[in-house]
Amino acid sequence: MDAAPAGADLADTYTSITRYYTAKILRHGATPRGVDWTCTATQELRFVQLLRICGGSSRFSLNDIGCGYGAVLAYFDRWERTATVDYLGLDLSATMIRHARRLWGERAHTRFVVGTTSPRAADYAIASGLFNVRLHEAPDRWTAFIARTLADMAATSRRGFAANFMAPKDRAEDDTAELYRSVPAPWIEYCERVLGGSVELVAGYGLREFTLLVRS
Ligand SMILES: C[S@@+](CC[C@H](N)C(=O)[O-])C[C@H]1O[C@@H](n2cnc3c(N)ncnc32)[C@H](O)[C@@H]1O
Repeated sequence: MDAAPAGADLADTYTSITRYYTAKILRHGATPRGVDWTCTATQELRFVQLLRICGGSSRFSLNDIGCGYGAVLAYFDRWERTATVDYLGLDLSATMIRHARRLWGERAHTRFVVGTTSPRAADYAIASGLFNVRLHEAPDRWTAFIARTLADMAATSRRGFAANFMAPKDRAEDDTAELYRSVPAPWIEYCERVLGGSVELVAGYGLREFTLLVRS
């Protein structure tokens, strides 16, 4: 996997993504379905895998890329009450961010911005579910989008970042063309060779997915 083509213009891709997820949150509200997940249990199972990147630290800063309505904060409040997290959530959808601010606007050490590239460096970054729904984007444009997103995360994370991907199905004919699935190898290679990280692959957690933990 090579780096995103220099200067690849992803503006149309961002517009399509924004439209898709804005429609979801308008229809289902601040619920797992509002960010295209089926339930809280699997949404939080993904957070468990991604947050392994933080290595059990109790005080850290975190950029949550594609934060949706900030569901990871409910996870922290329920399961990681002793952790002090300086949190910044980013999302392409302004409607998503409006919901997030309504839910979490009063929370200490918590901010949200509309966008894709963090305006600050943090200890860690996570991205859950960003790469799964390819919509009608051409395959090379979608891989450029993923590569760009990972490169932005690498550039704004001091200690490491984590992202998840859908793994291939056994029978390709069962799948819809709008979903993006990948084996881990090309993205591990990209994160190590191009972004200079050290990658741990996390799989086998009960979903047809994998999570990459990329340490700086
Ligand atoms: C599947 S939802 C998951 C939301 C949240 N991470 C969660 O697990 O509850 C993906 C979200 O990422 C946002 N998104 C996708 N690509 C993005 C990007 N490159 N930068 C910022 N937000 C992005 C979408 O607007 C959407 O709200």
